[in-house]
Amino acid sequence: MRKILKVLRYVFGSLFAFILLVAAYVQLAPIPTYEVKAPNLNIVSDSALIAEGRRIVMTECIGCHRGEDGKISGQLWADNAPSANCGRPT
Ligand code: HEC
Repeated sequence: MRKILKVLRYVFGSLFAFILLVAAYVQLAPIPTYEVKAPNLNIVSDSALIAEGRRIVMTECIGCHRGEDGKISGQLWADNAPSANCGRPT
């Protein structure tokens, strides 16, 4: 019985020490940085594309993002009534 307790103490002690080491590593390791490679975008904004964007926003996005002012000013998610129909306009 004593031998089992001794073994259990080593097992749980080692496990606890391992968890402490992992937590210390996560806490102390430096945050990695990455070089940002921005794509070279050539954005054209003619009236046909703007109209298409408006159509997409008014069908896909407005359900969730419409504010009390009727514009795309947003609202608190918790107050978002359209969430029941996945944000589709009703
Ligand atoms: C089902 C509901 C829903 C729909 C539909 C929806 N959104 Fe969102 N959108 C959200 C929520 C919720 C957030 C906030 C997410 C967060 O903060 O983690 C968000 C965040 C955003 C943000 C980030 C805003 C910020 O200040 O960071 C943008 C941009 C955005 N949405 C654009 C769009 C566009 C464009 C569409 C349509 C193509 C769209 N959304 C459709 C719910 C929706």
